Amino acid sequence: MEEVEQRPERLPRMPIGTVRALTGNRVKLPGMGLLKALHVGCVALSFAGYLARGIWMLRDSPRLRARWVRVVPHVIDTLLLVSAIALTIRLQQYPFVHDWLTAKVLALIAYIVLGAIGLKYGRTRKIRIAAWVAALLTFGYIVAVALTRQVLPFPTLI
Ligand code: HEM
Repeated sequence: MEEVEQRPERLPRMPIGTVRALTGNRVKLPGMGLLKALHVGCVALSFAGYLARGIWMLRDSPRLRARWVRVVPHVIDTLLLVSAIALTIRLQQYPFVHDWLTAKVLALIAYIVLGAIGLKYGRTRKIRIAAWVAALLTFGYIVAVALTRQVLPFPTLI
């Protein structure tokens, strides 16, 4: 009787998001380094810009109304968001699917709203300062979530 060769079934290919989740996000992906560097670079510039504008707000500085001060943050924040979207696609981990990214997006919305109140729409100086400080704390939370990939990052970080 003729022998039939039995080929082993191919293992199903797992999405890279699943592989990363199973390996504690330790798998390195090609091209991630550059994207992440762009993302983190924009994060640093966005933070520095927001801090500086807050200090100018506290000092009632006319610099706050300079054209470049109103334009450059939008360019940085757009790049920040584009790099964030590219990272999620590369990682195959998405907001409203993976909790830590949902937390990041919701916190980003809070940061934008608090930031707008702090630098522009707050009626009194007290309100603007409170919103500015709250926005800085929210920014810190977003970074902590990014570093730990946990919705409640602080027990992990401390
Ligand atoms: C103010 C807003 C944001 C800040 C401060 C921020 C901060 C960071 C930081 C510091 C990292 C590097 C983490 C590391 O070194 O492992 C990072 C990575 C990342 N961020 Fe953001 N981010 C922001 C917005 C977003 C948004 C809106 C998304 C997506 C919806 C996003 C998606 C990602 C992804 C996918 C990574 C890569 C994580 C990994 O390597 O596993 N980020 N972010």
